[in-house]
Amino acid sequence: MKFDIISIFPEFFKGPLSCGIVRIAQEKGIITITVTNPRASAPDGKVDDYQFGGGAGMIMKPEPLVRSIRRTITAKSRLITLTPRGIPFNQDIARTLSNESHVVIICGRYKGIDERVATLCKPMEISIGDYVLSGGETAALVLVEAITRLLPGALGNRDSAESDSFIHHLLETPRYTRPNSYRRQTVPTVLRTGNHARIARYRRKMSIMHTLERRPELLPSETFNMQDLEILLEVMNGKNS
Ligand code: 6GU
Repeated sequence: MKFDIISIFPEFFKGPLSCGIVRIAQEKGIITITVTNPRASAPDGKVDDYQFGGGAGMIMKPEPLVRSIRRTITAKSRLITLTPRGIPFNQDIARTLSNESHVVIICGRYKGIDERVATLCKPMEISIGDYVLSGGETAALVLVEAITRLLPGALGNRDSAESDSFIHHLLETPRYTRPNSYRRQTVPTVLRTGNHARIARYRRKMSIMHTLERRPELLPSETFNMQDLEILLEVMNGKNS
């Protein structure tokens, strides 16, 4: 997969893109990431201007961005702009985007992007949550990481994406490593029985309980089987182990 990031702060990406899974995926040739500064496509180097109609804050000018986009995209590219008015990013969108061959991400800055960039280039607009960031750069990192870890070969066997939260619309079960006893807190005994069926059922129950407690709105998206219904009844009756 090829990522192109269009940002007026290319230096922002140097550290984060050279760490962890994203670095390894680049070294393995699973992804390539190119960061382009739209300032290079502005004849006078000017990428922002005052807004028509007045109002505080600068707006990103259309010409440098559209020129950068035209230089970057092909017929097969998926174009994305990062903006708080976009659709909320989630695991399903990450999975859809992980099937693309070329993802082009435009990072908005200042108070926004001249609307004609959206009219002319018809990007998919994505937000990473209901809060305000100064620009799309941090959001671009979120997308690159969430997509990259879904690509075949990006994760080692020890770090599978299959059991992650949201693959199944449920939150993660609590997990433990050694020591068995730490400050008088011991690991739940069932996890030390070696009984894989019991362990799976316990983990499923913990996931259901945590989701019910913290994110009940996720539950209707999950598919439940007969054993889950039994677990749900136990949870409802307060039998929580
Ligand atoms: Cl993608 N951009 C900005 N500027 N703020 C945000 C965002 C994006 N997602 C949430 N807040």
